Amino acid sequence: MIKKFKNIDSKQFAKETRWLLEEKYSNKQSKKFLADVARLEKGEPVDYVIEFTSFLGCHIDLSFFPLIPRTETEFWVERAIAQLQKKRKNKKIQCLDLFSGSGCIGIALLSHISQATVDFSDIQTSCLQQIKKNIKKNFVGVNKERANIYKSDCFDNIPAKQYDYIFANPPYIAHARKQVVQKSVIKWEPHDALFTSDQGLYYIKKTIKESALFLKTGGSLFIEFDSHQKKAVEKLVPQKIYTSTFWKDQFEKWRIVVLNPRRNNLPNFIPSLSGRI
Ligand SMILES: C[S@@+](CC[C@H](N)C(=O)[O-])C[C@H]1O[C@@H](n2cnc3c(N)ncnc32)[C@H](O)[C@@H]1O
Repeated sequence: MIKKFKNIDSKQFAKETRWLLEEKYSNKQSKKFLADVARLEKGEPVDYVIEFTSFLGCHIDLSFFPLIPRTETEFWVERAIAQLQKKRKNKKIQCLDLFSGSGCIGIALLSHISQATVDFSDIQTSCLQQIKKNIKKNFVGVNKERANIYKSDCFDNIPAKQYDYIFANPPYIAHARKQVVQKSVIKWEPHDALFTSDQGLYYIKKTIKESALFLKTGGSLFIEFDSHQKKAVEKLVPQKIYTSTFWKDQFEKWRIVVLNPRRNNLPNFIPSLSGRI
């Protein structure tokens, strides 16, 4: 029933088609299945066609087409979760998943840390709907005490409170680097999840600056970046305010900065923002 398609890696295509049939259609071929095969043939990512991916054992629905969660993100979030579990056994943990997208980071936190509460936020309404769906899918009856969703431009609409941990995977690809990004990513994934100004540092700078008001002393801020940005990110860390540690991803590339506030240097160090708490 499946015709042969040109111009695509035939082994990969066969694998994806089989996977689609198993996962979405319980091994029953139909007109809808064939329509989905045609989507694969056009190069659409299999995760969008199947409408989900897995992230640290959680089912992440992608039917609203947010950024597809990356294995590099999964890798550091697993490490962060292990650290949190060790450090704060049985203590309440308040987390903020900024730039949530699909909500994969916050969903994994809720799933693996029973005492964690997570505030999710994104600027895109479609992402907020996606996060709501993913919370429902993963946690039957999760209540407002554990998960809240905010539509917010960075911190603009985040409640005036302080978190133990802030997780940020912001857009960090410079517009000028568009030509080095995989063509299928450019064609199918949301550009406002990927690209930003200031050599890709606009949201990283803003997150470092504004997080200080939302982070408890003793807490941590995790920010994902592109490996070539490490030196620039190092320079952005205000040494009086934070100590910093850099983590590599599973491909041995610099990927994460973990910022820890120095004691008693939070929260009023940014006069222009201090009125907000
Ligand atoms: C790189 S994606 C990260 C998605 C998800 N956290 C992950 O790790 O897969 C960045 C997200 O930031 C959101 N975003 C872009 N600009 C934003 C802004 N000014 N304020 C809040 N969110 C924004 C995008 O909609 C997108 O969902």
